[in-house]
Amino acid sequence: MRAGVWLIGARGSVATTTIVGALALRAGLTEPHGCVTAHPDLSSAVLPGFGDLVFGGHDVASLALAKKAELLAAAGVLPASLIDALGDELAEVERELRPVPDGATQAEVAAVLVADLLAFRDRYALDRVVVVNVASTEPVPSPHPAWSSLPALTKALAGPEPVLPPSSLYAYAAFRAGCPFVDFTPSTGARLPALAALAAQAGLPYAGHDGKTGETLLKSVIAPMFAMRNLPVRSWSGVNLLGGGDGANLAEPGANAAKSVSKQRVLGETLGYVPEGNTRIEYVADIGDFKTAWDLVTFSGFLGARMRLEFTWHGCDSALAAPLVLDLARITAGAHAAGRTGALTDLAFFFKDPLGDVPHALPAQWEALRGFVAGLSG
Ligand SMILES: NC(=O)c1ccc[n+]([C@@H]2O[C@H](COP(=O)([O-])OP(=O)(O)OC[C@H]3O[C@@H](n4cnc5c(N)ncnc54)[C@H](O)[C@@H]3O)[C@@H](O)[C@H]2O)c1
Repeated sequence: MRAGVWLIGARGSVATTTIVGALALRAGLTEPHGCVTAHPDLSSAVLPGFGDLVFGGHDVASLALAKKAELLAAAGVLPASLIDALGDELAEVERELRPVPDGATQAEVAAVLVADLLAFRDRYALDRVVVVNVASTEPVPSPHPAWSSLPALTKALAGPEPVLPPSSLYAYAAFRAGCPFVDFTPSTGARLPALAALAAQAGLPYAGHDGKTGETLLKSVIAPMFAMRNLPVRSWSGVNLLGGGDGANLAEPGANAAKSVSKQRVLGETLGYVPEGNTRIEYVADIGDFKTAWDLVTFSGFLGARMRLEFTWHGCDSALAAPLVLDLARITAGAHAAGRTGALTDLAFFFKDPLGDVPHALPAQWEALRGFVAGLSG
C-alpha cells in the first residue's frame, strides 16, 4: 500500500524530523528506534511500510525544509550527514509543501485544502492520504453553536465569520477529501460533534490527541504502580522546561493552558483521584528541542510512613515524537484500508489526552493497541 502523509505544520521540528527519519529509513541509513510499529508484536503486513510513505503538507511558515533540517542538525536533533545524503529526496518533499490558503470564508479555504489533498493523492497514485496535525498548539477556542451539527457547520462555514479553529478546519478538509485525520497536538481538531458526524458520513477513522512522549508517558507507567500497590499518592508536581518552536508557543498562556489540561488527565483517571499538585510548562530558549521534566511525588505507605519519588527526564522532543507520527500514519492508513471508521480509541497508547473512555495505564493501552493491529489483518 502506498500511503500519503500530509503534515499540517510541515516545516516544524516534529514534521521535519518525521520526514528526514522516514527518508533515512527508506534509504536504509538508520534503524527504526522509537517506532513501535517496528516491535515484533505490532508487525503487520496490512500496514504500509516506512518506505511506502510519501510526504506533503501545509505550513504558515516558508523556511525551506532542508534549512530547517540543518537547524535541527546544528541543535543535535539529527545527524548532519543525513541531510547531505537525502538532498534530492528532501527537495522532492519540498515541492509538495503548500502555504496555508486565504479565502473570504472558511468554506473557501477548506475547498483549497481539499483540492491540495486530492491533487497530492492523484499525483502519486496513492491508495490513501492520512492527514496528521503537528502544527503549533492552539489556545482553547470559544465554543460556537454551529459545532453541534454538520448542517449547521456547513452553513456557518459559508459565512464571513470564522467558525472553526485552524486544527478543526484541517480536520474538516481532510474528511471532505476522504482522508483519515490524526491530531498529534492538544488542539481541538476533530473533537466536535459536527466533525464526528462528517467522519461517520464519509466512513473515515480519526485519532488523537496530543502525542505522549515524555513526562506523561512516565506518569502512565508509574501511576498504575502506585494504584496497584495501594499506595496513596498525596501530591504529584511537575515542571517541564522546553525551548524550540513548541516551547516558544507554549509560553503563550492560551496554548500553555491547553497543554497543561492535556497533561493532567492521566493521574485522575489512573489513580481514581486527583492528588495535590500541578504541571507547569516553562520556556527556556537555550535548551532548544531538548526537554527537561522534573517531577516530585509524595505518597503514604503502611502505618502512614511518608515517602517520595523524584524523577528527571531529559528527552529530545522531536526525536521522541517523529517515530510516533510514522507509527500513527501507518496504523491509521491500515485502519482506513480495513474499513475502520470513527474515533480510533485503541490508539490511546500514543496520546496524553486520548479519545474515548479508555484506560490511561500504559500496559493496558499496549494490549489494546496490539489487539487492534492484529485485528486489522482479519
Ligand atoms: N515534540 C513532542 O514531543 C510533542 C509531543 C506532543 C505534542 N507535540 C505537539 O506537536 C506540535 C509540533 O511541535 P513542534 O515542536 O514541531 O513545533 P514547531 O513550532 O517546531 O512547529 C510547528 C509548525 O506549525 C506551523 N503552524 C503554525 N500554525 C499553523 C497553521 N495554522 N497551519 C499550518 N501550520 C501552522 C508553524 O509555522 C511551525 O512550522 C505542537 O503542537 C506540539 O505541542 C509535540
